[in-house]
Order: sequence, then C-alpha cells, then structure tokens
Amino acid sequence: MSQERDTTAPDASHTALKSADPGAAGAAVRGETPGARVAGSGRRARDGNHTAASVAPGTAGGESGDAAGSPDQGRDVLIDVRGLKKYFPASRSLFGRTTRELRAVDDVSFRIHRGETFGLVGESGCGKSTTGRCIIRLHDVTSGEIRYDGRDMAPMAEKELKPYRKRMQAIFQDPYSSLNPGMNVLQLISEPLEIHSAFSRAERRERVLELLARVGLKSEHADRYPHEFSGGQRQRISIARSLAASPEFVLCDEPISALDVSVQAQVVNMLEELQDELGLTYLFIAHDLSMVRHISTRIGVMYLGKLVEVAPSEELYTSPAHPYTEALLSAIPVPDPKAAPAGGRILQGDLPSPLESITGCKFRSRCPFAIGRCAVQEPELREIAPGHYAACHLHE
Ligand SMILES: Nc1ncnc2c1ncn2[C@@H]1O[C@H](COP(=O)(O)OP(=O)(O)O)[C@@H](O)[C@H]1O
Ligand code: SF4
Ligand SMILES: [Mg+2]
Repeated sequence: MSQERDTTAPDASHTALKSADPGAAGAAVRGETPGARVAGSGRRARDGNHTAASVAPGTAGGESGDAAGSPDQGRDVLIDVRGLKKYFPASRSLFGRTTRELRAVDDVSFRIHRGETFGLVGESGCGKSTTGRCIIRLHDVTSGEIRYDGRDMAPMAEKELKPYRKRMQAIFQDPYSSLNPGMNVLQLISEPLEIHSAFSRAERRERVLELLARVGLKSEHADRYPHEFSGGQRQRISIARSLAASPEFVLCDEPISALDVSVQAQVVNMLEELQDELGLTYLFIAHDLSMVRHISTRIGVMYLGKLVEVAPSEELYTSPAHPYTEALLSAIPVPDPKAAPAGGRILQGDLPSPLESITGCKFRSRCPFAIGRCAVQEPELREIAPGHYAACHLHE
C-alpha cells in the first residue's frame, strides 16, 4: 500500500458511477416525466409504504424512535431531528446583548430514513432553508438535536464535524451564485475531491468526466466557465459537484425553483435516477407543493418556523388535514378538477412576521376555521392516522 487515501465512499461510488450507463441515464432524463418515473420505481413505492410513521413530533417527551413498539423500530433512520430551534438575533442592546429574537425554526422534529426523500414545503420565510442548513450544520443551532446515523451533531465543533461534512452535501436554488464564476467546470467539480480525499490529478479528471456524463453533460464542458451554461446546465454542474465526494445525504434547497418548467422535470428526474443508483437520501425543499409531489416519499409542511403537517406524499395530497396544507394545495393549478382536494381554499392574507409573538395557533390569523381555543392554546403535532401528523385543534 504505497499511498494513504480515504478509500471508503469515493471509491465505492467511483465504481457505481463507472458501472452506470450515462447514455441510458441521459435518455431517461430526456424522455421520462417525474410522474412516470415514480410510478415505475419499486423502491420508491416501497419506501412510501413503510416510511409512513416516522415523524418525531414534540420535543422532550415526544415519540422516541428508540422506544419499543415505535413505528421506527427496525427502520434505518439516517437523520433524526429533535426539537430543533434556530433563533437569530434581531436586535441588540448597546452592550451587544440580544434584545429581540427571530424564531426562524421553533421546535421542529422529524426523521429522514436512509434512501428516502423528505419534502419540506411552505411559503417563503417559514424556515425551510434554516432547517436544512442546521441539519447539515451550516448553522449552529440554538437548541435541539440533529442525530446523524445515531450521533448528535448539534453540539459538535468543526473538527468533530469534519467526517460528516463529506457525507452531507447541498445544492441550492441559484447555481450561479453557488458556483465560483472564476473556476472552470473541472476545477469546480474536483474541488470537493481535493478537500475530502487524496485523488491524484489524473484520477480527479477521470472522476470529473464520469460525473459530467452522469449528469448529462459532455467532457468538453470541463474546460468551460459557469457563465457559458444555461440555468439547467449550471444546476447539473452543481449536482455533479455535490456528488464528487460521494455523499450519502444531499440537501436540495429549492433546486428547481429558478428553472423553466420543462427543465424542472428533467432535473427532478435526474435526481431520482441518482438517488436510486447511488442510494442517496434527500431533504428536498420547495415553496409550493406541486414541486415535491413526485419526488417525495413523505412531506412536511412548515408554517412560521413550525411543522404543521407531515404525511406520506400521496396521502398529503389526497387527504390534507391542516387548513394551511389545504390552502397550499388549492393554490396549485389542477389539470383534472376531479383530482382536486375537497374543500380546498385560497390562502388569505400575508404570512405574519416571524418577529411577532403569536399566542395560540400561529396560523389563526389566516384560518377560516379558527375556534376560541386556537387563540390561547398552541396545537401540538399529533398522529391523526398511521404516519399522518397534524398540528390543529380540529384534529384532537
Ligand atoms: N442568517 C440569518 N440571519 C437573520 N435572519 C435570518 C437568517 N437566515 C434566515 N433568516 C430569517 O429566518 C426566517 C426563515 O428564513 P428561511 O429559513 O430562509 O426561510 P425559507 O427558506 O422558508 O424561505 C426568515 O424570516 C429570514 O429572514
Ligand atoms: S388550530 Fe385553529 S387556527 Fe390553527 S389551523 Fe387548526 S383550526 Fe385553524
Ligand atoms: Mg429558502
């Protein structure tokens, strides 16, 4: 053994990528719709069935995944978020003490199983990105746990986090701002390899070319710069870059929101293909429900820093329980009116400021069903059907 190198994940994936057929994958990306893809995916369908009951509502005293008889018993939980809070200082006194806090994420608990896609939706500003960034520890957390493969990363310092950094990657909405315009594609994609492993220069180039083929780009693209590509192509470069260090978890933060509708389907389709082949786990964030339906195994709906509903994807669309979810669904144009959820309503009013202190249910200022209790008591996220959770007094 002449050279010391990290041989675990990179090589494993190297093989996986080598054995993959980029041409076939490219054809699939071009030819299939996300819906068709999902319908044909046995693995995804299986996940949909048995990941049903896997949110961990509440904080202290909430359902424990380790408890005997828990719905998660025997399930492979990759990420277990418990009572996550992230407060940003909103104003400070003359002496630098925080006098006002913005509760971007306020006591959120859920689990993501290995190999699944957990969709996270809600209006802009409700705390989705902050949740995702806390999970991959781009933010320090105010309190709560982020158990990754059983170990709580929340209190870890950078040195301890290092091995986890390679296992978790992210792609964001605007690939242009996340790709350094002064680096060419070869440099952009090989940069994570330089940080996380000891590939030689030639090995790095070979790996970059494999990754490019895998995301539907050509080898001659390696020497070009981000501004020479379309939005969809730039997102493909971001995806290739995120996969370079062979992660197991990818935070997909609105990766298709800025793309043309026709390109959105291709990118979602490609992410699904990659997930199946590389065994990836995704947290897929979107601001509207139409974008997460087909890729998600389960979906969580956020409102003002809280999870208000979590359900298996199809169930959320066919039987939404929370008035906010209903309103979000009614905002989606439905090609077949018969498929529209019963009782869907248009969302009234604006999202209140997260700086406002709201007693009771945070949704009550916009809720057409609010009752007296909603003003005084905050509803807890409760299981209302197997694997289906909602935080609303109407379901208690
Ligand atoms: N770094 C930050 N500093 C201060 N406030 C922030 C920061 N990041 C996000 N916020 C605030 O936290 C709230 C949630 O933001 P975000 O998580 O980005 O929402 P979303 O992704 O759902 O649009 C917003 O009110 C936003 O202004
Ligand atoms: S708890 Fe009350 S205000 Fe909140 S969503 Fe349910 S009915 Fe509406
Ligand atoms: Mg966001």
